[in-house]
Order: sequence, then C-alpha cells, then structure tokens
Amino acid sequence: MRISRPATFSLFLLPIPLLAAAFFFPASLDFRHILSAPSQPPAVKNVAARSSTTKRIWVSEDVYAGDNFFPGFDFFDQSDPTHGQVEYVNASVALGRLAYVTADKKVVMTVDNVTTLAAGQPRESVRISSKKQYNGGLFILDVEKAPWGCGVWPAFWTVGPNWPNGGEIDIVEGVHDYVHNQMTMHTAPGCTLSNTTNNTYSGTAMTTNCDATINNNEGCAILDNSQASYGPQFNVLNGGIYAMMWTIDGINIWFFHRASIPADITDGNPDPTGWGAPSAALSPQSCPPRKYFYNHSMVFDITFCGDWAGTSYIAAGCPGTCSQRIMDPKNFINASWSINSLHVYRDATVTGAIPGAASQLRVSATFAVTLVALGFACFWNLGAI
Ligand SMILES: *[C@@H]1O[C@H](CO)[C@@H](O)[C@H](O)[C@H]1NC(C)=O
Ligand SMILES: *[C@@H]1O[C@H](CO)[C@@H](O)[C@H](O)[C@H]1NC(C)=O
Ligand SMILES: *[C@@H]1O[C@H](CO)[C@@H](O)[C@H](O)[C@H]1NC(C)=O
Ligand SMILES: *[C@@H]1O[C@H](CO)[C@@H](O)[C@H](O)[C@H]1NC(C)=O
Ligand SMILES: *[C@@H]1O[C@H](CO)[C@@H](O)[C@H](O)[C@H]1NC(C)=O
Ligand SMILES: *[C@@H]1O[C@H](CO)[C@@H](O)[C@H](O)[C@H]1NC(C)=O
Repeated sequence: MRISRPATFSLFLLPIPLLAAAFFFPASLDFRHILSAPSQPPAVKNVAARSSTTKRIWVSEDVYAGDNFFPGFDFFDQSDPTHGQVEYVNASVALGRLAYVTADKKVVMTVDNVTTLAAGQPRESVRISSKKQYNGGLFILDVEKAPWGCGVWPAFWTVGPNWPNGGEIDIVEGVHDYVHNQMTMHTAPGCTLSNTTNNTYSGTAMTTNCDATINNNEGCAILDNSQASYGPQFNVLNGGIYAMMWTIDGINIWFFHRASIPADITDGNPDPTGWGAPSAALSPQSCPPRKYFYNHSMVFDITFCGDWAGTSYIAAGCPGTCSQRIMDPKNFINASWSINSLHVYRDATVTGAIPGAASQLRVSATFAVTLVALGFACFWNLGAI
C-alpha cells in the first residue's frame, strides 16, 4: 500500500525571519560548524576518461562508532529551523543523558522520555553535525533502532553551506508510524530526478524537481518500497543499513534489512557494484553532483511536530493534537536512535593497468554473481515485508 503525503520538507528550511535572525546572530545557524571545520580534499576522482577495466575501490576514511562517535560531532542548540516543538540541548546537557554509548557500544541518541511537560512546552532532544565535511564518498550507516512514533520526526542527512547552494541529501527520514523511508534531495535551481522511463532505482518518486526554491521546498523525494525501511517494523527486524554513495556519477542510496546485508559491507570492503538497484538515485545527467553538492556535514536529529510531523499529524491518524502529544513522556519511548556505526569510505579509483587491480576485479565479479544470487534469495524471503 502506498502512503500518501502532502509534501516533503527540507530539514534546513530557512524562512525569511530566520534569515534575518541569522544576519544578526550568525552563530545561530548550524552551518557555522561547516564554516569552521577543517577542509577535506575532494574524495571523488575525475573518471571521465576511465576505461572499461577501471574500478572504484572504496577505502576506509572515517569510522564513527562507540566511544569515537560523539567526539566527531558538534551539538546544535539553537531553535529548530523546521519549527519543531523541540529544545535541542548542548553537549554538556546531552552527553550522558540524551546522547551516550551503551556497555555493548551502541551509540544512543534519544529525547527526554521522563519529564511531563506543560502545554506548549518544547521537549528536549538532540541534533548533531559532523565536524568534518565531505565532497563525496560512500557513507554506510548501520542502525539497530531508529526513532518513530506519533509527532516524532527523525532524520539522518548531509548538508552543505549556503543552503540550498551546497545541497542537502536526506538519507533516512520519516514521521509518525510511517513505514517507508523517504529519501530527498534539496538543491539550487536546475537539478531534477531523471525521467523514470530510464528508471535506475527501485523506490517510488514522489516529486522530481530538487529545486528547494520552488514547490514549498518539497525537493525531489523517493520512497523506499520496503514497508520496514522506517518505523515499527524496521525496529522489530533490528534495523539495517542505509548506504549513500556520492560520486561524480551521481548519488545513490541503498537500504538493506539486517537479514540481507551484503557480506562485503560486513567485511569492511564495500562494493556497491554488486548491490543491485539502489532505492533512490540522482542521475549526473539531470543533476551534476559536483555543481549541486559540496562540503557536506552529516547530521542526525529528532524533532517533534513542526513543518512535516505537525502538518501531517491528523492525517496520520494520531490522537489529539501534535502539541498535546508532546506533554506526556510515555509517548516518546520509541523516539531513539541506536547506532552500531557510521563508516565513511573514500573513492580510490584504479585502472586495470595497475597490478593487482585486475585480479581484484575478477574476485569481485565472482562475488557479485554470488551477491545477485543471495539478493534473489533475500528478495523471496523479504517479499512479504
Ligand atoms: C568548501 O570548503 C573549503 C574549506 O573550508 C573552502 O575553501 C571552499 O571554498 C568551500 N567550497 C565552497 C564552494 O563553499
Ligand atoms: C548548556 O545549556 C545549559 C542549559 O541551557 C546551560 O546552563 C549551559 O551554560 C550550556 N553550556 C554551554 C557550554 O553552553
Ligand atoms: C517523463 O517524460 C514524460 C514524457 O516526456 C512526461 O510526460 C513525464 O511527466 C516525465 N516524468 C517525470 C517523472 O518527469
Ligand atoms: C537512458 O539510457 C540510455 C541508454 O543507457 C541513455 O543513452 C540515456 O541518456 C538515458 N536517459 C536518461 C534520461 O538518463
Ligand atoms: C513503542 O513500540 C512498541 C513496540 O513496537 C509499541 O507496542 C508501542 O505502542 C510503541 N509506543 C509508542 C508510544 O510509540
Ligand atoms: C528512554 O529512552 C531510552 C533510550 O531508548 C531507554 O533506554 C529508556 O528505557 C527510556 N525510558 C523510558 C522511561 O521509557
């Protein structure tokens, strides 16, 4: 069953009043982190002239996991640009309470689920941005549990400076008890999803113009076909992997249930050429990635109500009003991230002429065949989900 939803919203919506506020209080914008963070040389090589034996090899660049997770991020403690009834707390308030690492090394980001609030009061939550910025790469997020529930709106996304010019890629996003993950790009004018006649992705396009300056900043949004890619069933199945590949050849996002994670991901040698069609793809013909996406920080957040969860609250069949929902902490027992790791790989493109690369290609081709076979098996098993 296809869910219907009115519109998609950028996590980075900057309405005029906020722009004005930003002018007077520059530190209130979260891209202050981006501006002050160290630069990263572009990870994507120019492969325009590559031969048929050229192959991308993904090498580990950064691992955010366990006790090494939070030191890589800044906490955002300003008001929510998406107008949520939320209070984002700073690092000293969050760490150990709303942001912590468990004994078995799961990274938890959660919200205040113990305080009863008065009507209209915001609930405490966290929003963090990576200190490091990226200009491409393979971003592999292993999630055990993702936040969900009436009025809850979590996301994992990447975003560049001077929004929307640096672009925004929403990798994991949803509201309430929705079951399909929504992947959305928000960009400067001129970037679109390519026409679906050449469909290279398995998801369902909701909107095709990524231009954030039109259509109320809907962006171009694709819904994952799996009914366990977000929400209750995602958690029941112990989550899975979201992988976003950003190269000069475009942007692709895959989702794997925990039971069908490719072995090359588990082994730390990811090879997307064997993963099959991604859930979402942005073609370089209709949206040159170099032009529309740069200097991205990675962001996690959990907000409440606001531009998306607030406007869709009644239609989702949630009880009362969204604002009333915020008052009772018991409503937020499932509003937590539990993350195994976030692993960033960089592109180390090689050609067949390089000794060793050819054999790697052969191994990988055999492996791809195995994966395709496995993929079919998993497809049958998970077909009912
Ligand atoms: C990206 O970041 C680098 C390092 O901070 C900076 O020199 C460069 O101007 C940024 N690029 C854009 C297009 O903003
Ligand atoms: C963090 O927030 C708390 C509560 O608002 C405040 O008392 C404290 O000064 C803040 N700490 C920093 C380092 O900003
Ligand atoms: C694809 O192209 C056809 C014919 O040009 C057009 O009618 C359709 O609206 C396009 N679809 C999308 C998703 O852009
Ligand atoms: C569709 O695929 C064909 C053949 O691969 C290619 O030539 C064409 O440019 C593609 N069209 C779009 C809109 O991506
Ligand atoms: C939390 O998740 C459990 C298990 O899926 C579910 O039974 C319960 O209704 C959820 N509670 C809320 C407040 O979302
Ligand atoms: C609040 O959330 C955390 C993290 O998910 C969980 O461990 C804890 O049990 C929750 N507390 C309550 C009272 O539900």
